[in-house]
Amino acid sequence: AIKGFVFDLDGVIADTSVYHAQAWHQLATELGVAWNDELADDLKGVSRMDSLELILKAGGKTDAYTQAEKEAYATKKNDNYLALLKNMDASAILPGIADFLADLKKHDYQLSLASASKNSPLVLEQLGLADYFSARVDPATLKHGKPDPEIFARGAAILNLRPDECIGVEDAKAGVQSINAAGETSIGIGDLQTLAAADINFTSTKDLTLANIEQALA
Ligand code: BG6
Ligand code: MG
Repeated sequence: AIKGFVFDLDGVIADTSVYHAQAWHQLATELGVAWNDELADDLKGVSRMDSLELILKAGGKTDAYTQAEKEAYATKKNDNYLALLKNMDASAILPGIADFLADLKKHDYQLSLASASKNSPLVLEQLGLADYFSARVDPATLKHGKPDPEIFARGAAILNLRPDECIGVEDAKAGVQSINAAGETSIGIGDLQTLAAADINFTSTKDLTLANIEQALA
């Protein structure tokens, strides 16, 4: 039986994936790398340094910068991201999510956070949702980012649950791959084609309800 939910943050709980994309787009433009929807999709769920590498690779600039320069660019992106977050409040919570979290709590499900973002504590705090999550995987402690199973496996372990007792919720292709590889049930939110590997697909967070999940699993 399902006892816990392991959540991604950006693009699942809040609208912040738009801010991440905006900040990366700005940096890519500065680096002379063309931005497109495919690159934007590939960056979802991917850690800060891995995202920078994907952008450099897309522009054929993999060896163009030193490690110190790369770190400075990553910091610049994060400063832009934090500036975009400044005025964010609970209105950035995606449709249906506040009700879904309250319902999960009411039904005694355990919730953990498996976000690749080092900013996730700040974001949850600003949204007023921090109390829902009894545990959070610290992405700084991971050996491998999404699509590796490590982050979602840890998301179950910190709840003292087995993977098959957990549902992982993601909006990114790399995230769904991570959930599946960890042996959890995956819910993909967003484009059906991009997230075809998910066990259950919803096109919007509005559809994320216990009733819809039970129906999909039946
Ligand atoms: C993920 C986002 O949740 O976190 C990515 O989907 C982001 O877009 C990644 O790059 C790392 O975030 P941060 O805040 O540590 O730079
Ligand atoms: Mg996401």
